[in-house]
Amino acid sequence: MSLKVAPSVIAGNQAELGLEIKRIDEAGADLIHLDVMDGHFVPNLTMGPGVVKDLRSYTGLPFDCHLMLSQPGKYIEAFAKAGADRISVHVEVAGVGEVLKGIRALGKQVGLVINPKTPASAADRYLEDIDFLLVMTVEPGFYGQKLIFDALDKVPTLRQTLRTLGRDIPIQVDGGVTIENAYQIAQAGADEVVAGAAVFKAADYKAAISRLKNPVAVS
Ligand code: DX5
Ligand code: ZN
Repeated sequence: MSLKVAPSVIAGNQAELGLEIKRIDEAGADLIHLDVMDGHFVPNLTMGPGVVKDLRSYTGLPFDCHLMLSQPGKYIEAFAKAGADRISVHVEVAGVGEVLKGIRALGKQVGLVINPKTPASAADRYLEDIDFLLVMTVEPGFYGQKLIFDALDKVPTLRQTLRTLGRDIPIQVDGGVTIENAYQIAQAGADEVVAGAAVFKAADYKAAISRLKNPVAVS
């Protein structure tokens, strides 16, 4: 079993984001996860498209922009132009169907995010329109929280629904991922993990990423 790893730079040193991105690229990251927060959809603030644009030159890896915004439709074009390769938006947001179409029209990979308290079935009507699914395993807003295992139970459910539809798309798990729980996440059927603290608070980024990529069962 193996997982793709998308380190979330929110847990890195914010005064040297470009360098942190370079370091995780060299340490074997598959994607760069950029958490965009508006202080309204979630109780925290992070980066805008200007920061994403200036970070673009630090790596050739895909930018995975997770928009935690009440009105993501207003900003998708700006993030696309800034260099996002993937843009994911929350199913809890009003008019999300239109936003998914907008991301598609911009030629970017389309992601749908589901919060821990939102039932898996909320995603059903959009599954034909997306390129990947992101299952949140913490309440979004802050890195370094503990994984909510009940939320992880949605992964096999969604995998089954996708199979029924003949859709073979990646499922990403975001929130509270650690070297200790990565095996269970892979077993649940996830393909990719977002990891903030598990990478950036580790002494050795490369070792942390490699252990997340090849998770082993902990007894
Ligand atoms: C939470 C963000 C996550 C999170 C990841 O709002 O979407 O990407 O910061 O950080 P860890 O892995 O530390 O939970
Ligand atoms: Zn995220």
